[in-house]
Amino acid sequence: MGHHDNVHKFDPANAARLDDPQRRQAMPPGLLAAALALKPGDKVADIGCGTGYWLIALLGTSPPGVHFSGVDSEPAMLAHLAQRLRGHARGDQVTPVLSTEHQVPLANGSVDVVVMGAVYHELADRRGFLREIRRLLVPGGRLAIIDWDDLPPGVERTMGPPIHERVPFALARTEVMAEAFEDIDSIDGFSESYCLVARKAASSD
Ligand SMILES: C[S@@+](CC[C@H](N)C(=O)[O-])C[C@H]1O[C@@H](n2cnc3c(N)ncnc32)[C@H](O)[C@@H]1O
Repeated sequence: MGHHDNVHKFDPANAARLDDPQRRQAMPPGLLAAALALKPGDKVADIGCGTGYWLIALLGTSPPGVHFSGVDSEPAMLAHLAQRLRGHARGDQVTPVLSTEHQVPLANGSVDVVVMGAVYHELADRRGFLREIRRLLVPGGRLAIIDWDDLPPGVERTMGPPIHERVPFALARTEVMAEAFEDIDSIDGFSESYCLVARKAASSD
């Protein structure tokens, strides 16, 4: 469970696919917004934000005074995000952050909520990245991992990455638990995918 050199990264040239209506049904951003119930003053980091699929939905449904960092390791994705935020009434609540594969340049304990949508399966070192997320989070801070799940036998994949590239819910849950997150839950209403939410254990660093 250390480094995974065979991960396949999303090609920014396919950015339009992230807004596929079929994907919106399988991974409804509104359900994440309802589960998180963000409050004024909350600081949210959407890591691997891509074109802003989750970030823009959360921005539109949360109260004023929530601040978002749109974090991605691909400059091309941050350029897409900037374009979609141009002229957005609440674009000033978003800061773009260019990161690297293993590090997010945000301060220790500076984030209340980390969102990672369709990114976990692309990480070269998932356990190491969970430790990086824990560093960013305040004590008791929350993590939401949305990703593609295993399919039942006989069910054909219609979207998302090939099955062998996926990190199923059960594995994600085990890894998150091993890195000192607690209160692990799964939000209903996602299909072919899951939305795992967890809390940074208050006793951890
Ligand atoms: C499949 S896209 C998903 C984008 C968006 N979260 C969504 O759900 O539509 C995966 C994104 O994660 C980014 N990414 C992959 N590995 C990363 C890492 N280690 N740190 C930050 N971003 C990463 C990719 O550049 C890409 O934008």
